[in-house]
Amino acid sequence: MERTLVLLKPDAVQRGLAGAIIARLEARGLKIVGIKLMQMSEALAHRHYEAHVGKPFFPGLVQFITSGPLVAIVLEGKNAVAVVRSTMGATDPAKAGPGTVRGDMAIDMGRNLIHGSDSPEAAQREIALFFRESEIVGYSRDTDPWITES
Ligand code: RTP
Ligand code: MG
Repeated sequence: MERTLVLLKPDAVQRGLAGAIIARLEARGLKIVGIKLMQMSEALAHRHYEAHVGKPFFPGLVQFITSGPLVAIVLEGKNAVAVVRSTMGATDPAKAGPGTVRGDMAIDMGRNLIHGSDSPEAAQREIALFFRESEIVGYSRDTDPWITES
């Protein structure tokens, strides 16, 4: 089953929205297989956002993402990468649709609450940045067949 990395960014923690956002992801049927509270170092921020190094918004992005604790989560489920991305909504919350996390809870590009890997390859790379293998626990739930047909 596909896995993806989610970060509930420092604004989500500071605003007390971590639980509400996790509830949406769980309600979607996604399974938490790894979760931790941590503060990102500058070095990890550079590795995580390596595709954005040198862009004008990069310094502000690093400043923000390292500014306080975040919640890192590994989620598992059918098409987990795409399902998380659609549940998050567009990068700019002002353009994110209603019903999405960003569309319902945020208004500014630099305070958009949640990160989700943008491809299965990125997910593999990012999960390895944040979690040791021993910190990820695979398991089945009695509800799994009620969520996914096969
Ligand atoms: P993320 O990686 O944080 O999940 O967000 P994303 O995939 O929706 O967006 P991405 O293009 O990867 O950008 C990473 C973060 O950088 C900030 N950003 N600012 N001012 C700008 O043009 C701009 N573009 C991106 C956003 O905070 C975005 O979440
Ligand atoms: Mg991204």
